[in-house]
Formats: sequence, structure tokens, C-alpha cells
Amino acid sequence: MIGLIGGTGVYEIVEHGRIIGRESLETPYGRTPEISVFRLHDRDVAFMPRHSRGHESPPHMVNYRANIWGLKKLGVRQILATNAVGSLEESIGPGEFVVPDDFLDFTKNRPSTFYDERTVHVDMTEPYCRDLRSALVESSGAVDGGVYVCTEGPRFETAAEIRMFRSLGGTVVGMTGIPEAVLARELEMCYASICLVSNYAASISPSKLTITEVFEVMEERREDLIDTLEGAISR
Ligand code: HPA
Repeated sequence: MIGLIGGTGVYEIVEHGRIIGRESLETPYGRTPEISVFRLHDRDVAFMPRHSRGHESPPHMVNYRANIWGLKKLGVRQILATNAVGSLEESIGPGEFVVPDDFLDFTKNRPSTFYDERTVHVDMTEPYCRDLRSALVESSGAVDGGVYVCTEGPRFETAAEIRMFRSLGGTVVGMTGIPEAVLARELEMCYASICLVSNYAASISPSKLTITEVFEVMEERREDLIDTLEGAISR
């Protein structure tokens, strides 16, 4: 089974497939958002809205461990995730897709491992799954590769932080990609993300950032994003 984790703006996609069931699962870490299971291109697909429907959990409060555990429990082996991001590069503007191949973790306060009781160090040399990445790039024409910087949020970044992220090699900045990718690796699931640029990052953008512009771009590109996920699943 393939899992889809929908980020900001992507709360429902089952109209595109034949629905089999919907359920919220209990896990050792708490309940998951309601997951829709459906059939698409001869595959079983489980769709989970990361923030719950209606965007109830802010990025720093998402129960990432319950979400990933729940998908694993359902039998998911591969996960395609969507993430709204700000761009750190002038050449990558709002509305563009980026499929990152690495990340920088600037989160601070999130439970970010399943291994609190014993010592396990997973390898993260190549954090995103190669096959899923190519499927996403082929179906979307996205920028192939880039470094996803994850901040704690929920505030946007300062100008100095954006300068630092740029000098460290960051390509896009968001608040939800980590620890999701790490937790998926800990449970031995393949994981890749397609990032939709909703804005230029703070200080690169000439105006103050608002969540309204993020939602606007996500809404404009929602159908294309969903088509991309479907295209990747059919590959
Ligand atoms: N910063 C952090 N997270 C984001 C942004 C941003 O500029 N845009 C969308 N998510």
C-alpha cells in the first residue's frame, strides 16, 4: 500500500479514486487524523491529511509519530508527502515544485524518534527515497533535488535566519518535513516529498509574509499537486 500525506491545502483527494474506507487509528502515540483508503491505478492508497481536516494541528503540534505509526500499521510501505515551502532561491518562484534530496533540521521541540527506550541510530546519508523521488520529478517536472530546511515555527523566519539557511545551502524552508522523513526511515518505509513553493522566504520577498498568500498559492496549484501524486502512483 502507498501512503499520501497531504500538507497545507491538501486535505482530501479521494474524489479521484474509489473509496474503500475511512478511519482514525489508535497508536501508542495517540490517534491519527482520519485516513481515507481508496483504490487508484490498481493500487491501495491511504491518504492522511497531516494537520487533520480543517488544518487543526499547527506544524509544531502535529503528532508525527502517531501519523507515521498509523500508516505503518495500515500496511503502508511507501509514502509520498506534500509540503508548502518558502523559496530561498530567486530562481525558484511561487507555484513551482521542488523534490528535495536532502534536509537541514532546525526543529527544536518535537518528539522526533520512536527509539526512546533503546539506542538506535538510523542512517540518513540519503534521507529521501530515490525511486519515489524520480516518480515525483517525472510526473511534475519539479526541480530535481534541493535542500529542505525545516524550522520549528509556527512563526516565519527572521531575515538573518534566511541568510544563514542560504549560506548553508538551503533551497526551500518549511515547518513540517521533519521529523516525518526521519520517522518513516526508522520504520523502514520509503519516503519522498514534493514541495510546493508558496512564497519567497522572508526578506527575499519584498513584502511581509502572511499565511494568506501561502493558502492562496496552495489553492491555485492544488489540482496540479494532486495530479502529480496520481501520476507518481501510476508509475
Ligand atoms: N517559511 C516556513 N514555512 C513555510 C514558508 C516559509 O516561508 N512558506 C510555507 N511554509
